Amino acid sequence: MKAAVFASGTGSNFQALLDTDDLTCEISLLVCDQPGAAVIEKASKAGIPIFLFNPKDYDSKEAYEKEILRVLENRGVSWIFLAGYMRIVGSTLLHAYEGKIVNIHPSLLPSFPGKDAIGQAFQAGVETTGVTVHYIDEGIDTGPIIAQEVVEILPTDTQDSLTKRIQQVEHQLYPKVINELLS
Ligand code: GRF
Repeated sequence: MKAAVFASGTGSNFQALLDTDDLTCEISLLVCDQPGAAVIEKASKAGIPIFLFNPKDYDSKEAYEKEILRVLENRGVSWIFLAGYMRIVGSTLLHAYEGKIVNIHPSLLPSFPGKDAIGQAFQAGVETTGVTVHYIDEGIDTGPIIAQEVVEILPTDTQDSLTKRIQQVEHQLYPKVINELLS
């Protein structure tokens, strides 16, 4: 089973998937919209093909998603895993990959959707936050939830220490959930 990861940034979740020995799918493509993103170097080092695109080169979201779709179909990709992809997926991809596009988000959705979810939770002074893996729909972090894991916010936490613990949970949870989904 072939999968593509869509990412715009650091790519620590992408790397965690690559480093999971018993992952039951092959990460056969990185799709990225940011030429300077650190995730690109991670993919290059691992020998994973990269489809890098600049949305500004296209007339519309539909136009660049049609191009992405062509690349995915050429490579026989059947699942899409979003890992820090900072764009809303449009109807072109949603229809073509219905029920096959999954995202990871660093909060217990529906709390703290959108950007800087860890900062939002930290500022709100809540005692627990966590990680959510969910299917995507046309909204921002609104699709059906597949799995969640709680992370406590300790009185001694800084936003940095909380971020580190959340990332550790993400790197374990995403491969685990993907394997369950594919089994
Ligand atoms: C992760 O926290 C993920 O949950 C969110 O974006 C972040 C990406 O981090 N959607 P990285 O690029 O995988 O390090």
